[in-house]
Amino acid sequence: MTQDDKKRQVAEAALSYVEDDAVIGVGTGSTVNFFIAKLAAIRGRIAGAVPSSEASAALLRRHGIPVVELNSTGDLGVYIDGADEATSRRMLIKGGGGALTREKIVAAASRRFICLVDDSKLVDVLGRFPLPVEVIPMARGYVGRQLVRLGGRPELRMGVTTDNGNLIIDVHGLTILDPGELEAEINQIAGVVCNGIFARRPADLLLVGRDSGVEKI
Ligand code: A5P
Repeated sequence: MTQDDKKRQVAEAALSYVEDDAVIGVGTGSTVNFFIAKLAAIRGRIAGAVPSSEASAALLRRHGIPVVELNSTGDLGVYIDGADEATSRRMLIKGGGGALTREKIVAAASRRFICLVDDSKLVDVLGRFPLPVEVIPMARGYVGRQLVRLGGRPELRMGVTTDNGNLIIDVHGLTILDPGELEAEINQIAGVVCNGIFARRPADLLLVGRDSGVEKI
């Protein structure tokens, strides 16, 4: 089974967590793109979707799914999104697609966060995938120096501006033994908008695509 087959498989499995007549949170990335395509087939069953990026908003609209502002809903019942790395404790690195800040907001505003990954993304310790950090442009140099002090090798993601008008620094070489602690520490650096560790609000359920089928963690 290819990686895309596994992504399609978890996207299909996620449909069973979609509640009728609800507004659902929808994330960003290639796995979620498969999910949006499947959601289109049952679009009459949902009231709409709050997307975590302009890219997902555009795809939802192309599929005829109403896009709803988070400010016009209360908390959402369910948020469905992918991840770049995941542990068996459902802690994540996200932001490979640059949408980490809005992803963290929609996850925070959702009662249940269901995360879709293929088995290549499971790790014992987070950090093999470079950690994305969204920064205010004028703070780029300062934040980079602080990230070096934390033991990382920051690299500016060239040519990328986030949906919020900011920059992304990818931090290489981290071994994240205490994800909750590092998540909070990086967020305390002046100029950081958000970082891609999802530990304080981890996923509630991981759906893992494997050759043998979908595993629930
Ligand atoms: C987007 O910013 C990310 O957090 C994605 O959820 C993550 O990069 C997973 O993307 P894929 O589904 O494309 O692997």
